[in-house]
Amino acid sequence: MAVGIFDSGLGGLTVLDAVTRRLPDVPFVYFGDNGHAPYGVRDAEDVYQLTTSAVSRMFDAGCDLVILACNTASAAALRRMQESWIPADKRVLGVFVPLIEALTERKWGDNSPPREVAVKHVALFATPATVASRAFQRELAFRAIGVDVEAQACGGVVDAIEDGDMILAEALVRSHVDALKRKMPSPEAAILGCTHYPLMHDTFQDALGADVQVYSQANLVAESLADYLARHPKMIGPGTESMFLTTGDPRRVSDRATQFLRRKIEFAAA
Ligand code: DGL
Repeated sequence: MAVGIFDSGLGGLTVLDAVTRRLPDVPFVYFGDNGHAPYGVRDAEDVYQLTTSAVSRMFDAGCDLVILACNTASAAALRRMQESWIPADKRVLGVFVPLIEALTERKWGDNSPPREVAVKHVALFATPATVASRAFQRELAFRAIGVDVEAQACGGVVDAIEDGDMILAEALVRSHVDALKRKMPSPEAAILGCTHYPLMHDTFQDALGADVQVYSQANLVAESLADYLARHPKMIGPGTESMFLTTGDPRRVSDRATQFLRRKIEFAAA
C-alpha cells in the first residue's frame, strides 16, 4: 500500500513531509527527478516525457496513485496524461486544485458556478513554465470571479535551492517579490505556486510583509489526500515500503534532503 509523491527535485519533500505527518501509516514512494531539474525552463513536451517516465517507475514500485507534487508538471503535463496516458486502474493527481479550493473557500468537489470571493488581489509566484501555462488562472476562473492575479516567474530560485545555495535563493526571492510589488503594490494574498518555495517561506513572508497571507501547498495537499484516500481506500497501491528514489546523485540528494527535513533521508538511484 504505497502512494507516490513526484517532483522534479527536492521541492516535493515539503509535500512529503506534510502527508507523512497527516497519514503516518501510509508508505510513500518519493521520486525526485534531480538529474533533470529544473523543469521550469523546459518546454511542455520535455516535461511530459520526463514526468511520464518517472510516474511509470512509481507504478512499478507499487503505487496506484501518484501525486504530482510539482506545479510545473501539473501545469504542463497532467491534463495530457489524464486524457491519454494513465492506465484505467491508476490515478495521477496534481497540486493546484487543493490550493485554489482553499483560496476560494470551496469544499472538495464543489462544482457550482464561479462566484465572488474575499481576496481580490493575488500574487502568484511560480516557475517560468507554470506562469507561461496560465494553468493557475484557468483553474481559478472556474471557481472565482473578480480576482486580479499578478504572476511573477521566479527564474533561478529552484536552481539555487537544488544547489543548496540558500543565500542566492534568498536574494532571488527578495528581488522577485520587489518585481511583483512594482506590478501589484498591495496584494492581499500570495500563492507559492512551486513546491520548492515553502523552503523559502519566511523570506517570502518577510519580503511581502506580515499582512499578506501566504498560501503554500504542503498542508492543503495532505488534507486533500487524506480525504481522497478515505473515499477511495483501494487507491492505496500494493507497495509496502517507503522509499526515496532519485535520478541525481543519491549521496548529494540525500544530504540536501536531510538538511531540509531535519531527519535522515536516504535516497537510492531510481
Ligand atoms: N517543485 C517544482 C514546482 O512545483 C519545481 C519545478 C522546476 O524544477 O523548475 O514547480
